[in-house]
Amino acid sequence: MAGETSRIIGSIILLGAPGAGKGTQAKRISARYGIPQISTGDLLRENVRQGTELGKMAGSIMARGELVPDDLVYGLVSERLRLADCQRGYILDGFPRTPAQAGWLDALLEDKFFDSSEREVWRPFVVRIEVDYNELLLRLTGRRTCPTCGTIYNVHLQPPRKNGFCDKDGSQLVVRADDSDEVIAERLNAYDVQTRPVAGYYERTGRLFTVDGNRPVDEVSREIFSAIERHARVDALGVKDA
Ligand code: AP5
Repeated sequence: MAGETSRIIGSIILLGAPGAGKGTQAKRISARYGIPQISTGDLLRENVRQGTELGKMAGSIMARGELVPDDLVYGLVSERLRLADCQRGYILDGFPRTPAQAGWLDALLEDKFFDSSEREVWRPFVVRIEVDYNELLLRLTGRRTCPTCGTIYNVHLQPPRKNGFCDKDGSQLVVRADDSDEVIAERLNAYDVQTRPVAGYYERTGRLFTVDGNRPVDEVSREIFSAIERHARVDALGVKDA
């Protein structure tokens, strides 16, 4: 479906356990609708890499697989949402992760779009990707990422053509620091205890769509695209061919 890219797509949130495929699907949604992926995990890792004050505070917490304190994440998100590339919409990947973060986001959007005729379109549309526990383990232990372009691979499920190297730019692939067995267990626990209730928060709004993420990447993408387009009245969206 060809289309212009001037329409507002609004706020899309991807919810799901570590390894559910949020990053993988966010990149595809971003390419299709021409809106940015905002991954709080990536923003935090970039701060850790640069050795900022925030990065120093967050680094050890992330290394243990726990959630970093809300106030550290709020600054990152509000600053990122102010950038010009978010004017038509954005995909939040890894945020909100607690009901408190969801409430904070609602307040931010309410404030930003109060009295606006476009207010309805900015209310988050939430896609929850559900994946079985054993599949999550396989995905996280096998994940490899390109440090240059961010493409995500999996040695078991989505291997690159040449073992250890990115198909797109030839960079040597890396293993994420928190993809060790011990930290994966802690991240999955944090998801169960702190993040799972976020779905309940959005269920009440009638804007929560759940997709079975155990299937191949293309199938999952197709279902997510059609949900987004149904939701946002496809004829009103500027959509690029998949
Ligand atoms: P974050 O970076 O958000 O990590 P996460 O939520 O643990 O999620 P992942 O990135 O591990 O998984 P994903 O769902 O994106 O899966 P992916 O597409 O890569 O957070 C890291 C840390 O930062 C947190 O632990 C916390 O400390 C901190 N943090 C971040 N946000 C925060 C917040 N809001 N508040 C507080 N703290 C925060 O796919 C995984 C693998 O599966 C890949 O190998 C991929 O190739 C493969 N794959 C994907 N889909 C499929 C498929 N359909 N079939 C087969 N393989 C697939």
